[in-house]
Amino acid sequence: MGRQRVLSGVQPTGSLHLGNWLGAIRNWVELQHRHDAFFCVVDLHAITVPHDPALLARQTRQTAALYLACGIDPQRATVFVQSHVPAHSELCWLLNCITPLNWLERMIQFKEKAHKQGSQTSVGLLDYPVLMAADILLYNADLVPVGDDQKQHLELARNIAQQRLNGQFAAHGETVLNVPEPLIVPEGARVMSLTDGRKKMSKSDPNDNSRINLLDAPELVRKKIKRARTDAVAGLTFDDPERPEADNLLALYALLGVGSRAAAAEECGRMGWGQFKGLLGEVVVDALRPIQQRYGELMADPSTLDGVLRQGRQRAETVAQASLERVRTALGLTPRRQ
Ligand code: AMP
Ligand code: TRP
Repeated sequence: MGRQRVLSGVQPTGSLHLGNWLGAIRNWVELQHRHDAFFCVVDLHAITVPHDPALLARQTRQTAALYLACGIDPQRATVFVQSHVPAHSELCWLLNCITPLNWLERMIQFKEKAHKQGSQTSVGLLDYPVLMAADILLYNADLVPVGDDQKQHLELARNIAQQRLNGQFAAHGETVLNVPEPLIVPEGARVMSLTDGRKKMSKSDPNDNSRINLLDAPELVRKKIKRARTDAVAGLTFDDPERPEADNLLALYALLGVGSRAAAAEECGRMGWGQFKGLLGEVVVDALRPIQQRYGELMADPSTLDGVLRQGRQRAETVAQASLERVRTALGLTPRRQ
């Protein structure tokens, strides 16, 4: 049996932060060694809500460069931009036509985002999960590493593959495309907001002090950590439900500094907040330094990134076209003769 295929993507909205790195991209870096990995920048998803075109273009390149700077190796993994491979939009249309509308109307993320957009809610926002299913099914992915909040979208992709494509359009005993499995990130990898330890660190939080962006300058990182919310108790501890901020910052120190929770608890159990924050600031700055340096090199040499994305597109396209053809045939669309 060949290696299992993994596919994932992040939207190029806002700037990638510590949560995206520790909760997602760091796992991808591990996965690329033992799997056939595809990582895309999902720019078509980013335009399902109002957006600024110049910013989207900049952040798409920035996100791709950050994948590489965090350790995704284009020799091992296929790195590409979703919209560069038109098969994503094409398969999305084909899947749209075999997906019941009521499967989409019950998506939690749609309801939340549609509530915010009101009468400006786009058709694309409703269709977001079908495009995501297309991203996954096109590559016959076996495993899809995603956060907990994407479970429902993954389930939809599985239902489209299993019940519709394979259930209604496959020849007896065959499948049209593979049914993917989610790979849910463990709870411990959740990074919480610096301003509220009960909320996830998020790109969409209007308060930039709530997150550490991977590209924040060292001075800014130190400042944000100094200003992070604390409580009135001295000594840093894990797992106290009354002290979510202590738990979150100590977890960061364990992950990026001493390497284990036991060592972090031992070292910081009696430490005051001031001393601890100084220490944590340096640890985070040190962890981000190599990423920022590599990012700087990549941005100074656009042709390298262009080359990676070109090669990624070519590899992705080969796989995607084959899947698209299978679906076209299964649905009865006539072959395109050369
Ligand atoms: P998003 O920033 O919501 O587009 O998420 C992109 C990826 O980063 C997903 O796989 C998320 O699960 C992961 N992610 C986002 N925020 C966090 C966080 N605060 N902690 C851990 N993982 C996160
Ligand atoms: N919806 C995902 C998120 O917000 C991003 C995404 C789009 C994705 N297409 C994907 C993730 C395909 C995994 C696989 O995190």
